[in-house]
Amino acid sequence: MVMLLFMGRDRKDELRQPKRAGASKKVKNVVCKFRNRIFVGDCIELMQTLPKGSVDMIFADPPYNLQLGGDLHRPNNSKVYGVDNSWDHFSGFASYDSFTRNWLSAARKILKTDGTLWVIGSYHNIYRVGTILQDLGFWILNDVIWRKSNPMPNFRGRRFTNAHETLLWCARSQESKYRFNYDAMKTLNDDLQMRSDWILPLCTGAERLKKNGKKAHPTQKPESLLYRVVLSSTEVGDVILDPFFGSGTTGAIAKQLGRDYIGIEREKNYVNLAEKRLEQTRRLSEEEFLRSPAKKDLPRIPFGRLLESGLLRPGQVLTDPGGRHAARVRADGTLAADGFRGSIHQVGAYVQNLPACNGWQFWHVEKKGEKVPIDLYRQQLRAEIH
Ligand SMILES: C[S@@+](CC[C@H](N)C(=O)[O-])C[C@H]1O[C@@H](n2cnc3c(N)ncnc32)[C@H](O)[C@@H]1O
Repeated sequence: MVMLLFMGRDRKDELRQPKRAGASKKVKNVVCKFRNRIFVGDCIELMQTLPKGSVDMIFADPPYNLQLGGDLHRPNNSKVYGVDNSWDHFSGFASYDSFTRNWLSAARKILKTDGTLWVIGSYHNIYRVGTILQDLGFWILNDVIWRKSNPMPNFRGRRFTNAHETLLWCARSQESKYRFNYDAMKTLNDDLQMRSDWILPLCTGAERLKKNGKKAHPTQKPESLLYRVVLSSTEVGDVILDPFFGSGTTGAIAKQLGRDYIGIEREKNYVNLAEKRLEQTRRLSEEEFLRSPAKKDLPRIPFGRLLESGLLRPGQVLTDPGGRHAARVRADGTLAADGFRGSIHQVGAYVQNLPACNGWQFWHVEKKGEKVPIDLYRQQLRAEIH
């Protein structure tokens, strides 16, 4: 539903954060009215009507102030349709800085104390944005480089191919206890720590929204980029605000991943586009597939529980995946190998002559002719607890 926000004085006052006890409950109720809606208008004005400290995460893809110098053509003389829209025009750096300061200040007010803000930009604007957000009290956590796997070539051949954009990820302040789904990011990256350089393609093909055969929005961001942003820094049910909603990429991913969105966009035709896109976006109803619990939040299962529940028995032999090392299970939940006794982790480290080892992944048992890690049994017990 597209909302034209037009509020009288009384309504605006009602939306200001109350200072009485029970304020947080009221803020929660008020922000509910804004969830999963797109508002048409100027984001600075509209953000001022939202309750203070009500949004979990903000993703902003503001105008870049591209400063393009005239038409650009490919070697075959076809015109390159870059970003030449009025919303990207500013009279100079001073007016861009003042615009940036205003929207970032409004964003900071509505962000929760422990919330985070993402801003994407290019060399044209990101350094100015970075300085201003630090001046306002935001705390930069990472500058993520989105390296485009299919960048547009530099047609004039007078500079390097511009093949990346930068995302600044910031906490509201240095003291914020912000959310980072470390384990989800690691799993997404084949069990390796997710790095700050992301290689992802531009938004092309079927994903690119078209109108009369032409790009419906000049700077539609790829869903893969937003997928990583949303999954890394929010949880199911969180409220994500995008003050420069454009074609609605943030909303589409938020909806798919069971988060709520608030979109603000100045141009009515983009709002119509985003609205249609969101109507066609499916939200997965089974929440359990969307949640990203940190490993430390999972119920602790001591190795001894595998013995008590009969999944393993005393005297049973465990091996590493290649069968080079073996250890016997003792009744008290320790392992023994080559005269050494200790926990699954200590014995795993001892037999490999390593300082540490994750015994749950290292030790395997034979199951139906296949070697499986004992972690499988731990997962089985965790599932029974839930
Ligand atoms: C870089 S684009 C965002 C594209 C978007 N991330 C997407 O994937 O489609 C910036 C958008 O901000 C909008 N915009 C510019 N100034 C605005 C303002 N003051 N308030 C609200 N929207 C604005 C523009 O109309 C444009 O659609």
